[in-house]
Amino acid sequence: DDLSLDDQIEILPYDRRWEFPRNRIKLGVQLGAGCFGRVVKAEAVGVKDSEENVQTVAVKMIKSQTNVAALEALVSELKIMIYLGGHLNIVNLLGACTKTLVRRELFVIVEYCRFGNLQSYLINHRNNFEDPLEDPDTKFHGLIMSTADLISWSFQIARGMDYLASKKVLHGDLAARNVLLADDGVAKVADFGMSRKMYYEGNYKQSGQKLMPIKWMAIESLTDRIFSTQSDVWSYGVLLWEIFTLGKVPYPGLEGNHQLVRQLEKGYRMDKPDFAPNYIGEIMSSCWKIDPKERPSFSEMEEMISSQMESTV
Ligand code: ADE
Repeated sequence: DDLSLDDQIEILPYDRRWEFPRNRIKLGVQLGAGCFGRVVKAEAVGVKDSEENVQTVAVKMIKSQTNVAALEALVSELKIMIYLGGHLNIVNLLGACTKTLVRRELFVIVEYCRFGNLQSYLINHRNNFEDPLEDPDTKFHGLIMSTADLISWSFQIARGMDYLASKKVLHGDLAARNVLLADDGVAKVADFGMSRKMYYEGNYKQSGQKLMPIKWMAIESLTDRIFSTQSDVWSYGVLLWEIFTLGKVPYPGLEGNHQLVRQLEKGYRMDKPDFAPNYIGEIMSSCWKIDPKERPSFSEMEEMISSQMESTV
């Protein structure tokens, strides 16, 4: 019999080589917070071997020391990050403070991404959006945003997800709020704590006991609670829609679980956003096929986007 996801995480080892001394971390301002967890900016001394080297990092921790479920979820996320290894297009692990676990304190130290999450970035830069037809030479420098940036992020996210899929790790919550932007226009998939994750407030609707990101969920996840790499592909389609609408909330006007499911079952899907090239619109629609097997893989989408990127240079 196959092990359940929770059991698999349980037996993943913690590698002591990731241990980082608590006294070499200086906590700073809060970067983000959800129901159970928070992320804080911090300075870490000697992360990469050298003693003097001070690096800005992000530290994930739980809000309340009494919430054992939240602590277990963070332990799972840490173990998954160790198992993953590393990739340019995911937020990578730098270290962890687990010696403090006796008093239910755990720090998970990850890469700091200077430009924050993609959803906020898109919304904050709507007024700096430039159509490539007007100026084809605009490059990413954190100020002006062009269609080329949107396509580049879409490609990089597909790459990060292809890496997760190759490691058989489901994301379960792929959305623009869970993509972070680092220097040089690098996009990184974050928060792949998946099934036992700490859901952030706002975009989640109560469904049974759990808060679920319903507008990003595949039809089979909504109706039968089935999650797979192919349901991550559905979410990627919604994420593409978010990117090319510059951060709009999906299915505007559609509220409520039952209403959404009914519309999706009737075949309703969102239109191609105005800023999206036709091929992006086609990828988007193919992500939302009823049959999960008919949806493209992340590597196929990577291929599709990169071939189009080449042909427009
Ligand atoms: N907000 C949440 N996680 C972050 C990170 N790793 N870098 C920057 N901002 C963040």
